[in-house]
Amino acid sequence: MRLLVVSNRLPVTVAERKGQIKFQKSPGGLVSGLSVYLDSLKSSSIIEKKYLWVGWPGVPVAEKKKKEVKEKLLSEVDSYPVFISEKAMDNFYHGFCNKTIWPLFHYFPSYTVYDEEYWETYIKMNQNFRDAVLEVVKPGDIIWIHDYHLMLLPMMLREKLKNPIGFFLHIPFPSFEMFRLLPGKWRARILEGLLGAHLIGFHTHDYTQYFLRCVHRILGYEHNMGKIIVGDRVIKADTYPMGIDFKKYNSAACTKAVQRHKKELEKTLGDYKVILSIDRLDYSKGILNRLQAYEAFLEKNHQWHTKVVMVMVVVPSRIAVEHYQEMKKQIDALAGRINGRFGTLSWTPIIYQYKSLAFNSLVALYSAGDVALLTPLRDGMNLIAKEYVAAKKDKTGVLILSEMTGASHEMGEALIMNPNNIEEIVDALEEAMEMPKEEQIRRNQVLQRRLEFYDVSKWAESFIKDLAALKEEQKRFHDKIMGPAARKLLIKDFMNAKNRLIFLDYDGTLIPFSKNPLEARPDKKLLRMLERLAADKKTQIILTSGRDKHTLQSWFGELDIGLIAEHGIWLKEKNKKWRLIKPLNSEWKEEIIPVLETYAGRLPGSFVEEKEYSLVWHYRRVNAEMGSLIAKELLDYLIDFTANIDIQVMQGHKVIEITDVDVNKSSAGLHWLSGKTYDFIMAIGGDWTDEYLFKVLPQNAYSIRVGMTQSYARFNLRNNAEVLDLLNRLVKKK
Ligand code: UDP
Ligand code: G6P
Repeated sequence: MRLLVVSNRLPVTVAERKGQIKFQKSPGGLVSGLSVYLDSLKSSSIIEKKYLWVGWPGVPVAEKKKKEVKEKLLSEVDSYPVFISEKAMDNFYHGFCNKTIWPLFHYFPSYTVYDEEYWETYIKMNQNFRDAVLEVVKPGDIIWIHDYHLMLLPMMLREKLKNPIGFFLHIPFPSFEMFRLLPGKWRARILEGLLGAHLIGFHTHDYTQYFLRCVHRILGYEHNMGKIIVGDRVIKADTYPMGIDFKKYNSAACTKAVQRHKKELEKTLGDYKVILSIDRLDYSKGILNRLQAYEAFLEKNHQWHTKVVMVMVVVPSRIAVEHYQEMKKQIDALAGRINGRFGTLSWTPIIYQYKSLAFNSLVALYSAGDVALLTPLRDGMNLIAKEYVAAKKDKTGVLILSEMTGASHEMGEALIMNPNNIEEIVDALEEAMEMPKEEQIRRNQVLQRRLEFYDVSKWAESFIKDLAALKEEQKRFHDKIMGPAARKLLIKDFMNAKNRLIFLDYDGTLIPFSKNPLEARPDKKLLRMLERLAADKKTQIILTSGRDKHTLQSWFGELDIGLIAEHGIWLKEKNKKWRLIKPLNSEWKEEIIPVLETYAGRLPGSFVEEKEYSLVWHYRRVNAEMGSLIAKELLDYLIDFTANIDIQVMQGHKVIEITDVDVNKSSAGLHWLSGKTYDFIMAIGGDWTDEYLFKVLPQNAYSIRVGMTQSYARFNLRNNAEVLDLLNRLVKKK
């Protein structure tokens, strides 16, 4: 099994020096996290060491150099380049990715640019990545796509390939209110694009929930424990908090190289208390808030003057985007102001470096830092927080971490604060500076244990394991779809049979679900088909509906078929009168009707249907999310309310139905099943209420659920058109 990693950035960025192609490590948590995982694959039990990373080499590459760059990337770093022109990069990377998605998903709507040309280029670039993947992919490869640059790619690949496709979002997925700010066409396409993956991963439970909620509200798909069924596909969204290579950071502190760097650092940092501030240049990182808090801290705590330094590393990033340039200027100015205001000839309160540190220097700095102050206003995860704690071999050091980071969800032992509140940061700093060593060790011990247990390999392997399992589940699910062979056998059994019993549900089975149930009358074609099917004396047709008997009588009374109304309360055998399945009472309705009417009043578009022995609250016409939210509430309420009455509350397809207890389609079905011996039994239904009938049918019966849902039925048909096709074939064969 080979792993195909696809991300905007390759792990290395190409640079040309004196005509020679060189590679530098690319910035960011995605690259550093995944790179260590891929390095560790040698010892993986799931994946062979083989992998290929498809992505952008970080710079525009001249036409004449492309071949050389491609070969070198392939042979030296198992990477396959997607070359992108400067113009396209402007609209794609600097444009849609970093001026539209990045600010919006990090809750900076005022920085968000909505530009049609950016969007068009985003689609085109996703197609470019698709084509690159198609050039290298092999059957059986696992495709793992990463991050917000490539949200359309899963669907583009799904349309072409059968391989398992996973997607992981490394940044926050925003709440619906934020996500809906995208134009309608874009937001639907992005969600559909993501749903092309079998498995979609997020760093925190909140992001997963926000995503599922957006899918529900925008595309109308509900989920069940994170699983969404779209057509005949099962898709899952789940939470996988990314870890780090704990051992690597923890043991690095003792290596000679790191010790050497540490010695160098000690020369400058001497006996100062060291506060670390390390991030990529980004407005989402809250660097300005941090500096303001440090300034306030120095203002308030004179005793720390000349005794503390902040080492601030800002890694250059996306400098072509205006807000990043602006941020850089503001950081420079504020750091300068603090140094000017508090500094002396022998003391500089902030040591500021605008560059990226290599691994050994970074670990040396982590281990020299008494406090790490990380104040993102929003951050998908924040690996620096985890790396800092892991690098503390002696377990001392205090992590101050913003509650707006994904990492804060797993690092409760750190000092967690709200970065928008400068006072809170100052309080946390004061607490950190005075925290006794024993307490530091106690907190870090717990944190380290957690980081060691759920490290980056666990993160990646659990994602890949789930992806493989989902592909299997998808296959099982797919195998239940009634294919040509099963259809052929069904038709053969039908033709050979002497006594056939066929149960057919109406709404969702013989006709599509309709927003207005009264409009869903059978047309002439459908009636003619049923008539022809029922004309054969060897065939008994029973129409099993939830509708009231008057409606069924007026629509189907002329046909030579049996009828079940109100989900099994009323039965009508061929040429006989309607009768109740058992004596029932309907006095309880008086108490329930006002409850349902209150809910119908609360939710415009929902309405109450009264039948003789049952009541229904319909919510098919209302906003999908609102509908299921209120339906859940009503369901809870009714279950409580009816605890001492002999009635049952059932949730069907966009309806809540209240009927007498113990009455359902199975009791009505058994009435026919027990009367005679049949050598061909078939039941087709599209609703949850049909499951009762499926459960009591003999094993060799053809039970068929319409729609791709988990079911007790032996088979699934995708939709009502497929049902009609099957029935029409039976009509022709009889
Ligand atoms: N990093 C680095 N050199 C530096 C500063 C940071 O290599 O000078 C790495 C760091 O080890 C971490 C990554 O950059 O793995 C930053 O990841 P994080 O998730 O914290 O933030 P991101 O940049 O992805 O938003
Ligand atoms: C974040 C994103 C990554 C990105 C990294 C560096 O971690 O989630 O996808 O690669 O920042 O940003 P850059 O724009 O330089 O790739």
